[in-house]
Amino acid sequence: MAYNPPYFSEERLVQVRKIVAQFPEGRQKSALIRVLHMAQEDFGGHLTAEVMDYVADLLAISPIEVYEVATFYTMFNLKPVGKYMLEVCHTGPCMLRGADKTIAYLQQKLGIKVNETTEDGFFTLKSAECLGACGYAPMMQCGEHYYENLTEEKIDTLLDAWREQPIPPKAWEKID
Ligand code: FES
Repeated sequence: MAYNPPYFSEERLVQVRKIVAQFPEGRQKSALIRVLHMAQEDFGGHLTAEVMDYVADLLAISPIEVYEVATFYTMFNLKPVGKYMLEVCHTGPCMLRGADKTIAYLQQKLGIKVNETTEDGFFTLKSAECLGACGYAPMMQCGEHYYENLTEEKIDTLLDAWREQPIPPKAWEKID
């Protein structure tokens, strides 16, 4: 093979094998989303072509099958992202409760547009489809956490708190 991807650790490979074993013979593609999450977590928060090819090899499926999934779902990043990735829901209920204003406020506070990353590499701003917290709109996801009933004050508090973290966690790591 012409590519030279990073490789999963032995520990990670054990996890991958366990997941694949949950599916019938020949259905290892069913493990793809979970393995892509692992790859994104282990290889820097985004999926390069090399990493996607590696995952395809690992699951014995074609690279195009991996690209189709990785490019379809917004939770997979195809280019580097900031340490904190803010995903603001922009679907109906959130829009009715001011998600457009939330996005505009974040753009203004961070000095970036949606799909951009701040110059210091701290924040990436994205808009997302319904994240399943419609009753608490407007909301956003950052890492594994949901932040709901957003107001400008709440956003200010969150941004200040995140900026003060001495060693900011990566966007794909758990944030308290
Ligand atoms: S519409 Fe925003 S979480 Fe569902």
